[in-house]
Amino acid sequence: MTLLKVLRYDPAKAERPYFDQHEVEDVKGLTVLDALLRIKDDVDSTLAIRYSCKSAICGSCATTINDQNRLACQTQLSSLGKVVKVEPLAGYSITKDLVVDMRPFWDQMRRVLPYFITRSPDPERERLQTPEEMKRIEEATWCIQCGACSSSCPVMWTDERYIGPAAFVKAWRFVADSRDEGAGERLDRINNEFGVWRCHTIFRCVNSCPKDINPTVAIESLRKALVKRSLRRKVAVQVPPS
Ligand code: F3S
Repeated sequence: MTLLKVLRYDPAKAERPYFDQHEVEDVKGLTVLDALLRIKDDVDSTLAIRYSCKSAICGSCATTINDQNRLACQTQLSSLGKVVKVEPLAGYSITKDLVVDMRPFWDQMRRVLPYFITRSPDPERERLQTPEEMKRIEEATWCIQCGACSSSCPVMWTDERYIGPAAFVKAWRFVADSRDEGAGERLDRINNEFGVWRCHTIFRCVNSCPKDINPTVAIESLRKALVKRSLRRKVAVQVPPS
């Protein structure tokens, strides 16, 4: 048996957060999400959890499990030991129990313009990419926007104006895409005190990504792109007009 400690908190009732404890049989193949749903179905239907696909695709069930951000649907209960603690993602306000208010996360995402920007006339067929160009952005496209990385970042805990690792990965996904023409606007948006220069390379975001994306590579790549752009501008300014 595994002892599952689940954080409970209902701000509407003005109660203090506390841990509910349940004994769960750790049968092979049972995920943390399965265990939580068993509790919800059989013991206490008031337990609030967010989930959807149960397949590590939608990112909805990201929670803090034994002090590490993970997807509950992807985490085998038997891999965690005999005592398992489940808490909502840190850094966001709790709506109820394991459900947090993700609006600041989506606001951060919107700040980097997370969509294709094209200005050149549409080609007759689709905009093509070489395999090498695709390789450059491939890792960033794995992101399922679960929020595990941003929630683990201590800089974000202290200032929600910080754009955060998930949005930086999204920014890099488009800045590095050979088909996109909006890199300049995106770089402008992350080139400030809440952007890439605010990262203290704490690396918690790297350890918490359930898709093995390394946000710090994206952050460093964006910094390099900003430096290169600034050097190009400096050179351009120094060249006297002919
Ligand atoms: Fe935060 Fe990751 Fe940077 S944890 S400080 S975004 S390396």
